[in-house]
Amino acid sequence: MMIQTEHLEKIYKNGFKAVSDLSLHVEAGDIFGFLGPNGAGKTTTIRMLDGLLEPTNGKVIINGIDIRKNPIDIKRVVGVVPESHGYYYWMTANEYLQYFNSLFNSKDSNDKYINYLLEKVGLSEKRNVTVGQFSRGMKQRLGIAKSLINKPKVIFLDEPTLGLDPRGQKEIQQLLLDINKNDNITVFITSHLLKDIEVMCNKVCIIKNGVLVEQGNIKELQNKYMAHYTMLLQTSDNDKSVSLLNGIERIRSIAPFEDKLEVKFVRGLTDTQIGEVKHQMLSTLFMANIDLKEMSHKSLSMEDIFFKATETAQGGTKQ
Ligand SMILES: Nc1ncnc2c1ncn2[C@@H]1O[C@H](COP(=O)(O)OP(=O)(O)OP(=O)(O)O)[C@@H](O)[C@H]1O
Ligand SMILES: [Mg+2]
Repeated sequence: MMIQTEHLEKIYKNGFKAVSDLSLHVEAGDIFGFLGPNGAGKTTTIRMLDGLLEPTNGKVIINGIDIRKNPIDIKRVVGVVPESHGYYYWMTANEYLQYFNSLFNSKDSNDKYINYLLEKVGLSEKRNVTVGQFSRGMKQRLGIAKSLINKPKVIFLDEPTLGLDPRGQKEIQQLLLDINKNDNITVFITSHLLKDIEVMCNKVCIIKNGVLVEQGNIKELQNKYMAHYTMLLQTSDNDKSVSLLNGIERIRSIAPFEDKLEVKFVRGLTDTQIGEVKHQMLSTLFMANIDLKEMSHKSLSMEDIFFKATETAQGGTKQ
């Protein structure tokens, strides 16, 4: 387990409980998406995990190290992408990375690794340009390079694609996927851009009002919120197909969906039973000489899951 929190809680000085009883489980190698509406407590949580904010209660364990007992050791395994780089506008990209390197490794200038990082984030040619002249996307990529300076095991990013254009968003997504896969780094990310989550993450946690609503593998959540296994079909004769398929016992409903048919199965079928229903559908259409042009499984988008999960949950309470 790379990140584990137990009953994590944050009550701010004014008495507001921003995070309540939060137990997160992030495995090594995950790209973990941390979602929730505005004010849900994401930034509060990520700052507690980074060691920038002290929890009121509960535990944070990263790579087996208890953050409260060993705040210095934690810094060696964690990288943080800052929200703003405004304070270093006079430094060049290279100086910026050299500076952060010196904080970890004062003796070694580490030029080779810094060049590797600049290359990785696509800023080699901008190495001698000052940060003040950087676009938002470039600053964000430099921030990611900075987070890798200590060769961490996990990096934390709070809304890394905020304010970026579609190309900038995609660059960050690709970069994080690359870092996760090729540098073996666990990624913990918050984003309001659900596309980010869909493209990158294998696991998500959704919180609302400081309370965990859902946590798990995206596939599992898709199945959970999709109460009925659903297929989309396109046939040479949709009307005839409807009447034929209606005769199959385990099919619950068939309805037109765009130019296709949406076929919902009854609840609670096992994988084997789902396979049997599909087989029955195929042979029924085949026997009636209907051409099956397309048949696919319909799954929920991250947006569907986000709305369903946050709609039903009540979330926490004020203290
Ligand atoms: N220093 C503080 N003192 C009191 N309350 C705070 C403080 N910082 C944040 N809060 C409150 O805690 C709650 C959670 O805030 P947080 O910034 O963690 O949310 P978030 O999920 O990151 O939201 P967003 O999506 O808007 O970034 C909010 O209601 C916020 O107003
Ligand atoms: Mg936030």
